[in-house]
Formats: sequence, C-alpha cells, structure tokens
Amino acid sequence: MNDVEKDTRMTLENMSQMLKEAQDNKYAVGAFNILDYNSTKAVVQAAEDANAPVIIQTSAKTVIFWGCSAIICWVKELLSSSKVPIALHLDHCKDLQLIAECIKAGWSSVMIDASSKPFEENLALSRQVVEMARPKDVSVEAELGAIVGVEDDIHVKQQDAHLADPEQAIRFCAQVKPDCFAPAIGTAHGVYKGEPKIAYDRLEEIAAKTAIPIALHGGTGLADDVFKKCISLGCAKVNISTQLKYAFIDGFVAYHNAHNTEYNPLNVIDAQFNKLKAGIIEKINLFGSAGKA
Ligand code: 13P
Repeated sequence: MNDVEKDTRMTLENMSQMLKEAQDNKYAVGAFNILDYNSTKAVVQAAEDANAPVIIQTSAKTVIFWGCSAIICWVKELLSSSKVPIALHLDHCKDLQLIAECIKAGWSSVMIDASSKPFEENLALSRQVVEMARPKDVSVEAELGAIVGVEDDIHVKQQDAHLADPEQAIRFCAQVKPDCFAPAIGTAHGVYKGEPKIAYDRLEEIAAKTAIPIALHGGTGLADDVFKKCISLGCAKVNISTQLKYAFIDGFVAYHNAHNTEYNPLNVIDAQFNKLKAGIIEKINLFGSAGKA
C-alpha cells in the first residue's frame, strides 16, 4: 500500500472480519447503496446511532457518475467523526479496470461480477481480482448463478435467471476463496413482482459446505421473516439499494409537496436525509447488527 492508500484506508475496514463476526453470531451487516453525500451521511449516521458495523456500497454507475476521489472525500469526512466499523465496497462490477481504480483510490472491498460468463471464466476472473485485492488488504465478493432483475447496467431477465449450483459453488469458493460469496438463491434486484421463491435448502447447503459468509442480494421488498431465515442459514451481508432510491426521491418530493411555497433547499435535503436514515436504522435493527460495533 502506498502512503495515499494508507491515509485513505486508515479509518476504513475491509469486510472480512466484520462478516466473519456476523456469520459466527448469526446476524448480518447491512450494505446500503449510496447515491451522493447526503445518502452516504445517512448510512454512516444510522450506523452510529445504532452502534452497528455497516457497509457503504457504491454501484459502478455511481462511481463513474461522481468519480472515485469525490466519493473518497465524502467517506473520509464522515469517518473522521465516526467510531463504528465501516467498509467501502464496490457493488457488482464487471470491469477490472474500474476495480483497480477503486482499490487504488482507497475502497476497502470490491465485488467482481463475472456471473454472466461461463463457469471457468467466472472462476478465473474472480481469482484474478482476489490476486489484485488481497495484497492491498481489500476484501472480495464474487457471484455465481444469475440474479434476476436490474442492478446498475446488469439486466437479467426472468428466463435467463438461474440459481447457483451447490457443487459448482463449492468448487468456486475453494478455488477463488472470496471473503464473501453471492450465490443466486431466488431473490431479485429491484421491486418484487409477486412473492419471491427463495431456495432455502440450496442456501443452507451452500453456506454450510463453503463456510464463506453469504451476501443476500435483492434486499428491498423482502419480508422480515425472509431476512431472518436467510440470516439464520448463513447470510452475513444484506444488500439494500432500491429502498434508498425510493427514499431519496420520496423524501424530497413529500417535503416539497407539503411546503410547496417554501424554496429552502436545505430543508428539503434534511427531509430526504431523515427519510433515508430512518429506513436504514430499521433494516440495521432487523438484521441484528445494532449494538455489534
Ligand atoms: P435491491 O435493489 O433489491 O435492494 O438489491 C440491492 C442489491 O442486491 C445490490 O447489489
């Protein structure tokens, strides 16, 4: 690690230790996809209020929109007054160049999503990212199977979705050794149309046989008992993105509709912040990570 990387990383943790603790103690760390400084602040302050470890998660699109250095500046500023363990994680990324840029800029964790590739290619690309990341003390999440829905610029249609195969999952994890594993188990990105069919047996088998903390993708819209069951079976990281997108827009619009002659942007930003933070705290409590910092 060079001095800039060391300075940036000083207050960030990678996901490895926080997910192991969660896995051992049967709770999950929330990974919340941020959109800007206000939503990043909502994630950090929610974690502070709940005394919980948390993962600030960035989609590749958000990183490209703002640039690495702006995001690192927000995170550093927020971490300077924070005491809880916080990881900065790059969500679903197919682009090795962007992964390298995030690692260089100071992200403490990255996800390689080569799940659309044939198995051997996914395995080779995921291994390559582990080799890039591990010497920098950056944790890696890798995916197997195809999670339905739209996340960033990855679109998976219902007919193309398929669950992770347990035998392949065991081989994949043994060879890649990711810090966190994202097998497709029937959840979906975006808003659920109808009730999701979660393959609990498969989740249980994969979690037990790989012994790697599992990431539950597609968290928005799942029922409380579904979260609890998935966490009890081995999910140690839960991803929430769409919920924040809705709170971001709805918090803003609701305030303006209720005060439509008042043009005070800071009040609108504050209302948006409060809506984001309340929803994040609710999820942290539900995942059992409150008080675990
Ligand atoms: P949701 O958008 O359904 O919350 O899913 C988030 C996710 O899994 C990000 O990778």
